[in-house]
Amino acid sequence: MIDDVRNAREAALTDVNAAAGVDELRAVDIEVLGKRGALAGLKTTLGSLPIDERKAMGQAINEAVAAVQAAVDARRAELGAGAMLQRIADERLDLTEVTTRRRRGHPHLSTQAWERLEDVFIGLGFQVAEGPEVESDFYNFEALNMPRSHPARSGFDTLFTDYSDDGTVLLRTHTSPVQIRVMQTIEPPIYMVMPGKVFRRDTPDATHMPVFHQIEGLVVDRNITMAHLAGTIDAFTKAFFGKGFNSRLRPNYFPFTEPSAEFDIQRPDGGWIELGGCGMVHPNVLRAGGLDPEEWSGFAFGFGIDRMARERHGVDDLRDMFSNDMRFIEQF
Ligand code: DAH
Repeated sequence: MIDDVRNAREAALTDVNAAAGVDELRAVDIEVLGKRGALAGLKTTLGSLPIDERKAMGQAINEAVAAVQAAVDARRAELGAGAMLQRIADERLDLTEVTTRRRRGHPHLSTQAWERLEDVFIGLGFQVAEGPEVESDFYNFEALNMPRSHPARSGFDTLFTDYSDDGTVLLRTHTSPVQIRVMQTIEPPIYMVMPGKVFRRDTPDATHMPVFHQIEGLVVDRNITMAHLAGTIDAFTKAFFGKGFNSRLRPNYFPFTEPSAEFDIQRPDGGWIELGGCGMVHPNVLRAGGLDPEEWSGFAFGFGIDRMARERHGVDDLRDMFSNDMRFIEQF
């Protein structure tokens, strides 16, 4: 009889340890320790045994049940831990991004040109000011000697955010309005450059963008002459492009300067590049800025920043600079 208990115990332990998963173990548990199990079956025979044998058998069965129960618990813990590890492994999210090379950014070509221009003008004794990109009709046109119906306005078409007799508001077409704001804000002498974003109704092509960047210059002091203007342009040309470069002024017309000129720079190979406009600040413009033209005189200039970047890096098509194509951008 005792052998029966030992056999049942061994068989149960073997089954328990062979269970390959928590579900299988649960079934084995019911089978070996449940009412229909071998050990439970042996228990029902106890009543028919003589008293001394019954005691030894009862003890052996209890020990067997306890041992099998302990084995079930141990196996469950083992399988449970394994199942947890398996689940962790299955559900693991790999958040690492595989890249073939590191991408390191840098300032945009126009930003680089903008900053270099500021540096050069600061070196020449200028200060830097900025104005709003959304301007009133007064600053963008009127104060710059372009009254309503002035023909020069047609070359400066842009997006109007408000159009009325007294409150026309628009995306500024040039940085020249900042001249007026500066004159209204600080006392001469003024030696100021004003870089910024400007807008015009233009179809993008290799040399035009409807949004682009300009840098404006304004000098207001006593007895300023055209010679100061020409000298400043030339000093700038040599500081920015190098000693081998020259500059020249060509007569032109702008409503806000009188006389007005276009300025070009000459490469060491002899070729000329048209850079921007300039001239002596018109008396009406000084007046709009709150200054007396009898007391003060000045010169102004303005040119495109993106064009400088394009020139410096030999970019064929201005549109490439703003298309955000990494293959283009990464070259610089
Ligand atoms: N504002 C002009 C433009 O965008 C450029 C310009 C010409 C600026 C002559 C000036 C100037 O300050 O004196 O076409």
